[in-house]
Amino acid sequence: MIKQAIIPLAGLGTRLLPLTSVFAKELLPMNGRPGIEYILDECIDAGIKEVIFIISKKKIMIKNYFYNDNFYKKIISKKKDLRISNEYKKILKYKKMIKFVYQNKPLGTGDAVLKTKKYIKDKYFLMLLPDDLILKENCSKSMIKVHNKFKSSVMASMNVERKTISRWGIFKIDKKIDNKNYLINDVIEKPSIKNAPSNKAVIGRYILPKKIFSKLLKQKPGRGGEIHITDAIQSLIKENNKFIAHNFSGKYLDCGSMKGYIKSSEEIAKL
Ligand code: G1P
Repeated sequence: MIKQAIIPLAGLGTRLLPLTSVFAKELLPMNGRPGIEYILDECIDAGIKEVIFIISKKKIMIKNYFYNDNFYKKIISKKKDLRISNEYKKILKYKKMIKFVYQNKPLGTGDAVLKTKKYIKDKYFLMLLPDDLILKENCSKSMIKVHNKFKSSVMASMNVERKTISRWGIFKIDKKIDNKNYLINDVIEKPSIKNAPSNKAVIGRYILPKKIFSKLLKQKPGRGGEIHITDAIQSLIKENNKFIAHNFSGKYLDCGSMKGYIKSSEEIAKL
């Protein structure tokens, strides 16, 4: 059973400047709601009971957003407003399930994951990257089904245009399991077009084994001097740990760049 999810939120959001100069990108509104709420709803609907947020001191406003229930309480006590009462209930529900840990230096996704080491209880956990919204179908839920069936690690996957390959982690396919799932035998963080083993990219949903922590403890910085989760996954694959790439069927929205954020907000409004 996958009951815990982790969400790295300590990134600086430089691709979204100037919006992120004083504001956390994950709180930016997407059709009237902060982007992070879509991610939390995906977790809740997938049966997740606890979510660990990895933030930094600079991103403390994310904690403030979920710990501001007293502010709602005061307003509700003064005037009856059904919409605000519902928002208050929603915030309380989120607050109850979120735990906060800190990554004050932006050393990469692998380093962020390591910060959650002592809180992970079960053999496997879910990780969601908040820049990647997947709507219409719950990607985490379908990945958990795949995990339960094959007892393996799972990553979300999507075919990407060859010219964008060096922006993603790219899979090498071992064999097809069925129409949506592939066994993989390698994954490379942001390869050049020439070195890319396929056009199947890692999208930000991962079901990872607890043993990834021991790999991360020894992990050397990779591309761009950062500690990448992709590199730790690659080491696990080399030691014959089973990883499945799951071609999800929901609608993918890239909210991490300015162009992507603007387009995503428009797309969500249409849904
Ligand atoms: C991260 C991962 C990359 C993955 C991507 C999906 O990259 O390192 O492997 O393909 O998310 O969005 P980032 O977006 O942080 O550069």
